[in-house]
Amino acid sequence: MVYCPAVRRIYLDHTATTPLDPRVFEAMRPFWTGAFGNPSSVHWHGRQARMELEKAREAIAAAIGAQPGELFFTSGGTESDNLAVAGAARAARAAGRNRVVTSAAEHHAVLDTCEALGGEGCEVVVLRPDGTGRVSAEAVAQAADGRTALVSVMHGNNEVGTITRVREIADAVHAHAALMHSDAVQTLGKIPVDVKELGVDLLTVSAHKMYGPKGIGALYVRRGTALEPLMRGGGQERGRRPGTENVALAAGFAKAVEIAVAEMEAESERLASLRDSLQALILARFPAAVINGHPAERLPHILNISFDNSRVSLEGETLLLNMDLLGVSVTSGSACSSGSMQPSHVLLAMGRDPRTARATLRFSFGKGNTEDDVDEAVRRLNEVLSRMTA
Ligand SMILES: Cc1ncc(COP(=O)(O)O)c(C=O)c1O
Repeated sequence: MVYCPAVRRIYLDHTATTPLDPRVFEAMRPFWTGAFGNPSSVHWHGRQARMELEKAREAIAAAIGAQPGELFFTSGGTESDNLAVAGAARAARAAGRNRVVTSAAEHHAVLDTCEALGGEGCEVVVLRPDGTGRVSAEAVAQAADGRTALVSVMHGNNEVGTITRVREIADAVHAHAALMHSDAVQTLGKIPVDVKELGVDLLTVSAHKMYGPKGIGALYVRRGTALEPLMRGGGQERGRRPGTENVALAAGFAKAVEIAVAEMEAESERLASLRDSLQALILARFPAAVINGHPAERLPHILNISFDNSRVSLEGETLLLNMDLLGVSVTSGSACSSGSMQPSHVLLAMGRDPRTARATLRFSFGKGNTEDDVDEAVRRLNEVLSRMTA
C-alpha cells in the first residue's frame, strides 16, 4: 500500500479526544497571557482569579443540575473516576461498608481503581454486561447489599456507545443506602445529563471530549457525601482535591460545556444521522460486519463494528494501520488501551469471541465531520478490505 502524503485526513476518533473549539481558546486566552493570579491568594490578583474560577464552577454545575458547592475540579475523567470510587469506598469503611459493585464494561479508570481497592481488602463485584453492553437494575439490586459502599456504572459507554438506564440502577442502589457513581465523560453534551434526574451521588465529567482543553475534569459530589481525598496538600477544592487550581482550563471547560449544551440538540441529531449513514453503508457493503452496542439506546456519535471471524479472518491491527495509511484516524477500542492491541475488554465482556473482537473498528463523529467523510471513509475501508482479503 502506497502512502500518499496529499491524502485528505479524516478524523473519526472523537471519543478519544476532540479538537479545541476556537471559542474555548478565546475564553482561556486572558488567563494564559495576563490574569495569572492564584485563586487562594487574598490580594487583588488572587481575588480576580477566584472570581473567574467560581464563575466557571457555577456554569458547569448549572449545566448538570448541581449546586456550585457540589462540583470539584480535577485533572480529568481518570482522576474523577479514581476519586469517586476510591474516595467513597475508603470513606465508607469506617461505617462497615466494604463492598464495591461495578460492571465489566467500565472504563479502566474505574476497573483498575476497583482492582486496587480489592488489594486493600475491599470486596469487589464486577457484573457482566448483557450482549448490548448494559447491566440491569435487577443485576445490581442482587449484587448490592447493606455492606455495599458504592456502585459505579457508566452513563454512556466510550467503546460501543450503549446508554445505561442510570436512574433505575441508582434507585436499586439507594434501597441499600449505598452510593451511586456514574461516569458521564461521553454523555455530557451529547444527551441530557442532570444529576437529580439520574439520581447519582457522584458523577464524572471531562472537558476534552467536548472541544474543551485536555487536563481538566470535574467530579460532582452530592452535598453530604463522605469522600476521602486522594491527595493531601493546601486544602484547595475544600480539601477534596488539593493543588493550585488552573483557572484557564476551568474557564475553557465552562465555555466548552456552555457551547455543548446550547448546540446539543441539533448537533446530536446531525451526528446520529452521520452514524446511521455509515452503519447502513457498511452493512450493505460488507456482509461480515456486525454492529456492537445497543441497537436503539446508544450515543449519537459512536459506531462500533466488528468483522465476524466465522465469515472473514482479519487482523485488527493491520486493519487499523491500513486505515491510517489511507488517511482515516479511527481506533479499534478505547484509546487508552489501543497501544497494546489487546481485544477490547468491553467486547469480550459482551460475549464477542476474541478473534472477532480483535477485528473491530470504532468510528466516532464530531463537529468537523460531514456526509462526504462518511462516503470517503467507506470507500477507503473498501480498499483496505479488498487488499486484506485478496
Ligand atoms: C468513559 C470515559 N471515562 C473516563 C475517561 C478518561 O478521561 P480523561 O481522558 O479526561 O482522563 C475516558 C477517556 O477516554 C472515557 O471515555
